[in-house]
Amino acid sequence: MSTLAHSRTGSPASAGEPSLALEGIGKAFGQVKALTRVDLTAYPGEIHFVVGDNGAGKSTTLKILSGMFRPDVGSVRIGGIEVHMRDAAEARQFGIAVVHQDLALVECLDIATNMALGDIPRRGRIMLDRARMERDAAKVLSGLKIRVGSVRTQIGLLSGGERQIVAIARAVRTNLPIILLDEPTAALGVRETAHVGEILDELRAQGKTIICISHDLEFVFRHADRITVMRLGNSVATLMRGSTNRDAVVGMITGTIGAAAESAQE
Ligand SMILES: Nc1ncnc2c1ncn2[C@@H]1O[C@H](COP(=O)(O)OP(=O)(O)O)[C@@H](O)[C@H]1O
Ligand SMILES: [Mg+2]
Repeated sequence: MSTLAHSRTGSPASAGEPSLALEGIGKAFGQVKALTRVDLTAYPGEIHFVVGDNGAGKSTTLKILSGMFRPDVGSVRIGGIEVHMRDAAEARQFGIAVVHQDLALVECLDIATNMALGDIPRRGRIMLDRARMERDAAKVLSGLKIRVGSVRTQIGLLSGGERQIVAIARAVRTNLPIILLDEPTAALGVRETAHVGEILDELRAQGKTIICISHDLEFVFRHADRITVMRLGNSVATLMRGSTNRDAVVGMITGTIGAAAESAQE
């Protein structure tokens, strides 16, 4: 590991063991080679951004981490142990929560129900425990300083930003140690983006491992601990935020700057 990784102060986990590591991941869809070689090591108490041009393989990488796709080659380690996740449910068992780009919220259901999907509280064997579901949702939202009016509001009535926040809150509600987000600010205004940033900072303070895809480099540089640049199906470099800058990252995204000299990875 690089000495830079140990030099930060204020992050509880920079000196710790990786919570998650991808090594030599490759993935093809028929003739399309989506990933050639992806290495990524993430730590608890850090926000790790993944950046790169469209088609670079960012979403595919996240989907491998969330159990949606299986890699053709390479290894996934969680807490140092190699795992083979077969689906999203298994990823959850390994401590991984995901906020996908399409959010996967159900328009006609309310906030509380959406937040509980997949894990609906019940009374007895079949009765839905509506009161508990609403209490849970309200508690998670207030913990994230999110005001949505009523948790009985239908998702279909919310703005893009509010939906994004509900989707993040749903992942946070699971209280899993690793949270993956695919472009959480893509459709958001300035204030909503800042709010998502505050939530990520809060999750970092709680010691979570956050892996976030973003094309918004201003957002990235405001919140990142580490940045992995992807290009044409490869992870080009992982950089500590404090030891790089926007021009260098843009250069790596576009391929005008080589990576070796800047990489903070082993
Ligand atoms: N399910 C799929 N089937 C076929 N090709 C795919 C699939 N998912 C992604 N790809 C291809 O893999 C490459 C990487 O895509 P993706 O991971 O979505 O990139 P990014 O998120 O960085 O924009 C692209 O060429 C894309 O067209
Ligand atoms: Mg994508």
